[in-house]
Amino acid sequence: MDPTADIPPLSADGAPETNRRSACGAILAAILATAASGCRTAATASRCTEPVTLEKSTTPTPRRRPIALSTWDHGLPANRAALGVLHADGSALDAVETGCRVVELECPDMTVGLGSRPDRDGRVTLDAAIMTGDGRAGCVAFVQGVAHPVSLARLVMERTPHVLLVGAGAEQFARESGISVTAPTLTRAAEAEWRAWLAERRYQPTINIENHDTISMLALDAAGNMAAASTTSGLAFKMHGRVGDSPIIGAGIFVDAPIGGAICTGLGETVLRTLGAHLAVEAMRAGATPQEACERAIDRIIEKNGDPSGYQVGMLALDFEGRIGAYAVQRGFTFAIQEELRDAPSRFS
Ligand code: GLY
Repeated sequence: MDPTADIPPLSADGAPETNRRSACGAILAAILATAASGCRTAATASRCTEPVTLEKSTTPTPRRRPIALSTWDHGLPANRAALGVLHADGSALDAVETGCRVVELECPDMTVGLGSRPDRDGRVTLDAAIMTGDGRAGCVAFVQGVAHPVSLARLVMERTPHVLLVGAGAEQFARESGISVTAPTLTRAAEAEWRAWLAERRYQPTINIENHDTISMLALDAAGNMAAASTTSGLAFKMHGRVGDSPIIGAGIFVDAPIGGAICTGLGETVLRTLGAHLAVEAMRAGATPQEACERAIDRIIEKNGDPSGYQVGMLALDFEGRIGAYAVQRGFTFAIQEELRDAPSRFS
């Protein structure tokens, strides 16, 4: 399925977004959006599900509207929360932080937040990053006992002269900022999986399962600002101290106005070696559509990492016209656009 089908603006409850524009303006915008997308449904339809192939545009049509784009199935609840922020005229920055916090609190896959699978020593260590289109960024890595690493990353961006804080230093900064840092614990489910893993101790990531990890988000707000964020516990049963792509600017996330943004999920080592998100944004700068940019970046990741049969990487991109791209190494990468879940096309099936 072509993931780039256009999405008309939605309000928080899924109805067409009309409340902040004049009725005439809203109708005209909806007609233009529908025409641009190739969707055959009426202009008042709340969502276009018809796939379209988007072409490179040399004369971008301004179609700024709230958009939320997230990785995996848990992108749906994240998007819902983000869209609530965006449709209340909130910022893209607030939207991605709010969306990530939802998954940090509840992640049935045990790959985000304090309920995650631990590292090989039985410790849950968390990574997160946040970035805005004007180049501001904050990240934390290898933090323990922090319920919302994405919010800590935002504080690094807003209250320190630094971009990345790690480990005990990041936890100290959390305490100094009034964020509680709890003692390390494991949920019963995480402990059971860790003990089962200890019996074999094999480092063998399972495609779309242990790599079924990060919640990464991109949002474009009504004012035309873009932000990205990601938060994860990384690879299950990793070596203590291991950090993946998610908290590294240019690897797991990257946004650059007025070009666009890109986010990654999957086996972090493969993305770190290539700065995957940066690759995609630079491809867009060179004229690629978001879809072409994702495909080029994934191809490069495969080229640099060799045999792709043992790993998954999923990539999403968004430009300031609201066009999206999605692509993965392997089949099985799902993503959420607004309140709809889609399967990304992949290099291998
Ligand atoms: N993509 C998340 C990680 O590898 O840590």
